[in-house]
Amino acid sequence: MARDRAQTIPGQRPAPDSDAIISIQGITKRFGNHTVLQDISFDVPRGKTSAVLGPSGTGKSVLLKTVIGLLRPEAGQVYIDGDPIVGVPEKEVLRIRRKIGVLFQDGALFGSMNLFDNISFPLVEHTNKTDKEIRDIVLGKSELVGLGAHLHKLPGEVSGGMRKRAGLARALVLEPQILFFDEPDSGLDPVRVAYLDQLINTVHEETAATFFIISHNIESVRRTAHYLGLLFQSKLVGFGSKEAMTNSGVPVIEQFLAGRPEGPISMDEMADAEIVDHGIAAEAPETGQLEPVSMATQDRDETTTMPAAAGVGQDPSAWHTGS
Ligand SMILES: Nc1ncnc2c1ncn2[C@@H]1O[C@H](COP(=O)(O)OP(=O)(O)O)[C@@H](O)[C@H]1O
Ligand SMILES: [Mg+2]
Repeated sequence: MARDRAQTIPGQRPAPDSDAIISIQGITKRFGNHTVLQDISFDVPRGKTSAVLGPSGTGKSVLLKTVIGLLRPEAGQVYIDGDPIVGVPEKEVLRIRRKIGVLFQDGALFGSMNLFDNISFPLVEHTNKTDKEIRDIVLGKSELVGLGAHLHKLPGEVSGGMRKRAGLARALVLEPQILFFDEPDSGLDPVRVAYLDQLINTVHEETAATFFIISHNIESVRRTAHYLGLLFQSKLVGFGSKEAMTNSGVPVIEQFLAGRPEGPISMDEMADAEIVDHGIAAEAPETGQLEPVSMATQDRDETTTMPAAAGVGQDPSAWHTGS
């Protein structure tokens, strides 16, 4: 999986590997002297759904933002469909990002725009399509995600699940080859998570795009992902097919995927990570969730459950106007 580090020089392309639409090679990301990601390498298979799991605060959002060129790593390279994204001119990053859709944790909708205007926004900003063409596309994607009847409403007037679906419809309007999901289950109750997972699978079949999900919810990604990766303590401890990962024989991976309190990872380690990142102690995860905090925050407004998103300078409007 890991390739020659010589290929991390911008402008040099990796050996052609048509099966990998994203190739992550030796990514190290630090904030000050805190190393969040250390030498992360793996290939994301084209046309499949891959999920990277890890407890809260392990660097999943940082990984996603690095892969899409919103954060610059200290070392390493990311190839999107063969093109390097680290250290290349902004114009090139924007060109590559046209192949990408992102569903951020909260849907990242504009609060003052109704759902129709939110979903049509990328088309208005980035294409020369006529009003009728835009309308047809928006209605088509809204239909696909089951939102048709609510397009005149403001984000604040609909449920968290609907906001997610609107965010998904918006991520789809430019027909991306790759769709990223940051904790698609956040802020939803288990029934709505199951419903959203079904929708993710339907949309995956419909679009044949590559889906890349980051999550702490093992039960959820078992329903959607063909490939699983695991981040723990700055490292990628494994990436492979769901079957291979489930039967890996590697104690740390099996413990994570089973959500077991017994194993090489002490609950103290998980709890310590929770305390550092959220200022609250977590209980041992026994529910298939790596990070039980989200279970406690289900019914709150989603904006209160996003310390990570708020901390990374992730301004949704910057994303939209910048891409
Ligand atoms: N912009 C930033 N500046 C400093 N530290 C950051 C920044 N963004 C993230 N971090 C830190 O990186 C670590 C990983 O964060 P994040 O990727 O959001 O975790 P996850 O998504 O896995 O919950 C956390 O310790 C967080 O505090
Ligand atoms: Mg996150």
